[in-house]
Amino acid sequence: MPTPRPWQNRLALPAIAAPMTAVSGPDLVIAACRAGAIGAFPTHNAPSSAALDDWLGHIRAALTADSAPVAANLVVHRTNRRLPADIEILQRHGIELVITSVGSPEPVVGPLHDAGAQVYADVASIDHARRALAAGVDGLILLTAGAGGQTGWANPFAFVRSVREFYAGPVVLAGGITDGRSILAAEILGADLVYLGTRFIATHESMADDAYRAALVAASLDDVRLSTRVGGIPASLLASWLDRAEQDAPPEASPDTGFNQDRLLSNSTAWSAGHSVSGVGAVTSVAELIATLVGQYTAARHDSAGLVTND
Ligand SMILES: Cc1cc2nc3c(=O)[nH]c(=O)nc-3n(C[C@H](O)[C@H](O)[C@H](O)COP(=O)(O)O)c2cc1C
Repeated sequence: MPTPRPWQNRLALPAIAAPMTAVSGPDLVIAACRAGAIGAFPTHNAPSSAALDDWLGHIRAALTADSAPVAANLVVHRTNRRLPADIEILQRHGIELVITSVGSPEPVVGPLHDAGAQVYADVASIDHARRALAAGVDGLILLTAGAGGQTGWANPFAFVRSVREFYAGPVVLAGGITDGRSILAAEILGADLVYLGTRFIATHESMADDAYRAALVAASLDDVRLSTRVGGIPASLLASWLDRAEQDAPPEASPDTGFNQDRLLSNSTAWSAGHSVSGVGAVTSVAELIATLVGQYTAARHDSAGLVTND
């Protein structure tokens, strides 16, 4: 018997609408969870911890026990001054899944487990993966080259296969997931779930503005550039935004000083996108996007019958 995927009975697709600064808010999360994908958002998108409390209350009221889970993303870096207050709110709301990023999950795993949450950690190297597992996380999110936002650098094929040599638990592949066929490919590779970030920016429910959405529709993966100017560590940005930003303030004005949460938030109008931007062809609703992905995924399974053995 193959191991069931995490939350399998509540998902239409083995996918997480990935947390995105200044993009993922309650409307996107609710629409994703209703349509059968895990809906994630970074807690720092709520303007304060009190607002986070309101957001979670609103999201919970809009969903049912059958909806896909909600995931909160916590930046666990020491520069996130809201961390203790946000953790207390997540505990109080009985959040099902917390995703840690930019730092060690070690200090937050115990308190979140005590509140019944699963904790998945963003990792970008084998060393990060081993350390996150030693800290007691329940799943790994493998950030790979070409992912939107603060990207990884590892090749997805090599990264998933290397992690599978020592870890049999939940693995989420992040980066380059463009359509339903890539979701199936990630499963064949050994992932249980995928992250899709960029594909969800160009939806009516995202917090992105119209110019950003239009830029995504117009762009291809050739338009994605790496830069440290937004959060202090390498992120994938749209060239159209980066060129303008560098004209307004040259790169020397924002040297690479390592991650800083305040710097990330003060640049939250940046236009980030991963290589999967090549799959963005129109602005749609979240439900339409998920229905399209489900259709492509089902067709790909049909085309590759015999290759996939996990149901
Ligand atoms: C605009 C944008 C903002 C992002 N902000 C965050 C964030 O706040 N926290 C986080 O863990 N990841 C963040 N990410 C990364 C995504 O969660 C995810 O890893 C990535 O989008 C996957 O690659 P894809 O965009 O090609 O699907 C962001 C990505 C984008 C595109």
